[in-house]
Amino acid sequence: MPDLSTLPPDFLWGVATSAYQIEGAVRADGRKPSIWDTYCTKPGAVDNGDTGEVACDHYHRWPQDMALLRDLGVDAYRFSVAWPRVRPDGTGPVNPAGLDYYDRQVDGLLTAGIRPFVTLYHWDLPQALQDRGGWPHRDTAEAFADYAAVVAARLGDRVADWCTVNEPLCIAWIGHLEGRMAPGERDLDRAVRAGHHVLLGHGLATAAIRAHAPRPASIGPVLNLSPIEPASDAAADIAAAARMDGHVNRWWLDPLHGRGYPADMLDTYGIEPPVRGDDLAVIATPTDFLGVNYYFRQVVADDPDGPAPYARQVPVLDAPHTAMDWEVCPDGLERLLVEVNEAYAPARILVTESGSAWPDKVAADGTVTDPERTDHLERHLAACAAAVGRGVPLTGYFAWSLLDNFEWAYGYDKRFGLVHVDYDTQQRTMKASGTRYAHLIRTHQQRTVTVDPVAVRG
Ligand code: IFM
Repeated sequence: MPDLSTLPPDFLWGVATSAYQIEGAVRADGRKPSIWDTYCTKPGAVDNGDTGEVACDHYHRWPQDMALLRDLGVDAYRFSVAWPRVRPDGTGPVNPAGLDYYDRQVDGLLTAGIRPFVTLYHWDLPQALQDRGGWPHRDTAEAFADYAAVVAARLGDRVADWCTVNEPLCIAWIGHLEGRMAPGERDLDRAVRAGHHVLLGHGLATAAIRAHAPRPASIGPVLNLSPIEPASDAAADIAAAARMDGHVNRWWLDPLHGRGYPADMLDTYGIEPPVRGDDLAVIATPTDFLGVNYYFRQVVADDPDGPAPYARQVPVLDAPHTAMDWEVCPDGLERLLVEVNEAYAPARILVTESGSAWPDKVAADGTVTDPERTDHLERHLAACAAAVGRGVPLTGYFAWSLLDNFEWAYGYDKRFGLVHVDYDTQQRTMKASGTRYAHLIRTHQQRTVTVDPVAVRG
């Protein structure tokens, strides 16, 4: 049993998903294509030619999946709203059926006593906006804020917690520089532009939610961050680690915290983001929490001939790795949380994603035993508890993910769920890790049963 005694009594226990990864029903009720629908049609872009067309069929099966949330005993559920369901062309007419779908889910969650955390952008940009320039184009940031206002006006009487954008790093660097995610571009200039407009969209959306949600909103961005270490004591590797830290962490954290873009990275890229007027002030609009997604640390070496930031991740030998080939490193989470808190002092931090993929097997008796995921979960929770013990204002943890789902360019082979999904039958099976998570949650809640959660969580 991990020592979680330092976690506060009102610690929020959750699980997370995202729309394109679980919903399926890509043509239902007025939804139009997103950039991921398009990307999936590119030969060789996604393993096995998988697509999000059916995924976990959560669009039709969400009541059943909500029962799983109840079985887990979570306090909160982080899910994303699909922009192409709500405003299928990105701008222009709102699709009532799309909004109704999320409205029903919010009511279902509240009836189950589960707090909805709504992510507004988890990578499914309407294709129509991509056709007009996508994130490298400034109008997309403004369109995002307009869409955020629509969702906040409809759901904001019942939803208090909002994540604006999920993982700007993946949107900008992986989608526009490395070409390994939609829209599959490889262009540093467009990647820098995209990143700036994602941050600007976050700031504009924050104001839009506050202006349109009928009740006070708690709002934050979600960043995927990694602690970075040099592969050796050589000066070149130490400098490479600083560049990778700039690329992965500071490029996002600095402007969000009012420091503008890091000067060393402007030099590294040799490109200026398209900052206009008061953009930097908009990006630095105060938020209520910082969402941190953590999966791995990075040990890096100099790579002068590689792409920006001219640093490459080197494998850590003799360490356990997940099915994604990501090193299991819970200490990295503790270190990351402590360092981010010391450097930026966000009002609160939530671990908005943490989890691991393993090659799960269903046993003859129908059970799924996943000791690696259980161990990963416990050790990362212990890292959270240790960070809290070191003064980090960490108020919640969302396990990634509720269900096995569409893992982007890796398709369905990589399973992150606490619940197994048989994609042929859509049968759900709680894995041993899910049962363990439920036990840890219950144990913590029982320890703190005298605390009024509503009063504390505010
Ligand atoms: O599945 C993804 C999720 O969509 C964003 N964060 C990382 C997860 C695992 O790769």
